[in-house]
Amino acid sequence: MTAIDVTAAAVTAALSIIDANLAEFGDRYPDDTTVGDRYPMRAANTGWTTSFWPGMIWLAHDLTGDERYLAAGTDHVRSFASRVADRVDVDTHDLGFLYTLSCVTAYRRTGEKRAKQAALAAADHLLARVLEPAGIIQAWGDLRDPAQRGRTIIDSLMNTPLLFWASAETGDPRYADAARRHAEQLRDHILRPDGSTFHTFYWDPVSGEPLRGETEQGHADDSCWARGQAWGIYGFYLNYRHTGDASFLAAAQRCADHFPADDVPYWDLSLVDVERDSSAAAIAVCGLLALGRRDAAGTVLGSLISDYTSPGNALLRHGVYDKPKGIGVDEGTLWGDYFYLEALTRVTRPDWTDPW
Ligand code: GLY
Repeated sequence: MTAIDVTAAAVTAALSIIDANLAEFGDRYPDDTTVGDRYPMRAANTGWTTSFWPGMIWLAHDLTGDERYLAAGTDHVRSFASRVADRVDVDTHDLGFLYTLSCVTAYRRTGEKRAKQAALAAADHLLARVLEPAGIIQAWGDLRDPAQRGRTIIDSLMNTPLLFWASAETGDPRYADAARRHAEQLRDHILRPDGSTFHTFYWDPVSGEPLRGETEQGHADDSCWARGQAWGIYGFYLNYRHTGDASFLAAAQRCADHFPADDVPYWDLSLVDVERDSSAAAIAVCGLLALGRRDAAGTVLGSLISDYTSPGNALLRHGVYDKPKGIGVDEGTLWGDYFYLEALTRVTRPDWTDPW
């Protein structure tokens, strides 16, 4: 088979799993990771990953034009609108992941006002997480929680597109200004001189001074968590695209230079002969494609297609959520599935517009 045939076959296989999951999941949401290659279902729309399921449904719509996916994607707006209105588990920077894929995308396709209002409400919550004078968006938890106060994480670079969208939609520059300042702080501090990245970084909440890098899901504070590096590639690129600031593009390139794009990476780039993280690979492929690094992206994507597709109801297996805590180790992950399907969409539809 040619590489084109292999990719087309991978899209067909992925769509058939999505079709089976549409019937199985109904209006429920799968958990963050599989258990033994199958997703348990969540009791409610909570956590940071639920939007990756409607995100995949919208990708299926882009790949096929099938109206079933339009209807299914639109159905999820109700749950996300209630979640933000009722403030269910919204003390997080991950509102960007959650509302870009569920409601911004639905609004763009259907013009549904409820989707727009929910996404703008989420952007307001995200804006309220900006800490002055540092000008950073606190990642997790209540803003008064001393353990979390002043802490950012590299993943947040994927959440700023919601703010850029909100400014474009409303004409209010505050959202985009906050996103840009936050990305500048991460460019200057979470990205290390050698092109590797800290997972998380603290600022002094009173003085605004940068304090220290720490890990939460990586091997050590001074190691390089593979998924964080992948978030850096794609996230800095997206902040470049929204601002036109070449320093963000340079940051994305430096993250990409430091990513071992010869195979699916070990879950922490400082380790060898440990579990690999297919989700880090899938995210990195999207970032590498956005940067025009097609050969490296093709190598990693080829490995995912040939060796990492799931025998269960996930698209990929062999991901790692949080190795230090022993959560979701060597399992499928909902975000890994989303970015794998996004990578397949990017490769098979070169004129496709991503939701970020
Ligand atoms: N954004 C959380 C993670 O990548 O695990």
